[in-house]
Amino acid sequence: MPTVLDPIQSDAAGKAERLIDKHGRVIADLRISVTDRCNYKCVYCRTGNEGAVYAELPIADYLRIARVFVGLGIEKIRLTGGEPLLRRGLTDLVRELSGLRTLDGGALDLALTTNGHLLEEMAEPLRDAGLSRITVSMDAVDAEKFARITRVPGSYERVRAGIRAAQKAGLKPVKVNCVLLRGFNEDQIVEFARFSRDEDVIVRFIEFMPLEEDRLWTLASVVSMKEIVEALGRFRPVVRMAPNAASETAVRYTFDDGVGEIGIIAPVTQAFCGACSRVRLTSDGKIRTCLFSQSDHDLYGVMQRGGSDEDLVRFIRQTVEQKESRHHIGEPGFLKPSRSMVHIGG
Ligand code: 5AD
Repeated sequence: MPTVLDPIQSDAAGKAERLIDKHGRVIADLRISVTDRCNYKCVYCRTGNEGAVYAELPIADYLRIARVFVGLGIEKIRLTGGEPLLRRGLTDLVRELSGLRTLDGGALDLALTTNGHLLEEMAEPLRDAGLSRITVSMDAVDAEKFARITRVPGSYERVRAGIRAAQKAGLKPVKVNCVLLRGFNEDQIVEFARFSRDEDVIVRFIEFMPLEEDRLWTLASVVSMKEIVEALGRFRPVVRMAPNAASETAVRYTFDDGVGEIGIIAPVTQAFCGACSRVRLTSDGKIRTCLFSQSDHDLYGVMQRGGSDEDLVRFIRQTVEQKESRHHIGEPGFLKPSRSMVHIGG
């Protein structure tokens, strides 16, 4: 029931302070990369070359940045990497973040994306520290194929155990992200449908984006949403589910018997930039307003120069305002972003 509880006042106290870009999109979702180290070398992400230079901030600095962002209306924080479970102090960060309150006084939606290799032992401590949700990246249900994609032998069983541990710890529903790459794992679509139904996880297929260190992306390498839905439909009749929120990136499906949930994220063939509510912080403290930005914005530089919280607020507002209207994947003249995924954060 709507009440007469002064909409004008709540607008002034809430909306007016929120982060809004020049296209009118409210930014409510922050992704923080806590390291750009990763223990995998997935074929669609990294070259596998050694000798890269990594950069991380002290945990206290991520916390300060998060606090300032939450004061600007951020309601959801996702911790990513690199591989975030490699980061020492992660559970302390989660504990501190879970104590923050949104502008409405509610709890933050606090999520984490991991490759799952170290999850079995971390699931319970993360839950105890206040994590709300977890997404595990897993690109094949077949162990051998999994190893071929991640280029780390023997990890598959660890990831499966990690997913079970997260479920046992109550981090439900666990989501499993699968990037489909033609020639590698498009034969896994139906296997993942079975996996969702049998293991009670939400599977999300993500169209391959040009964010890799190698230059192997082509439009032809993308397994499209249309193809995925068709493959699912050959397995069992699919039923479209209602969206959870306007800014939701996944189009959701279940099957005729209501068992299983498959989300499809189609940044390439059905871009959702118009409803984008996201902004990213790289592990070295730069703001990225789009995965495909040609530059990033050195928020940490402001801190290093002794900037106050008000200075940070000003910098964040200016940066977010300039958020790109959309990406240009697949268009003539598309320029690859200035960083690859592992150095941006998922
Ligand atoms: N295209 C699509 N998804 C990607 N991810 C990493 N690189 C790419 C890419 N080039 C996925 C990861 C992880 C999520 C954060 O992003 O597999 O699940």
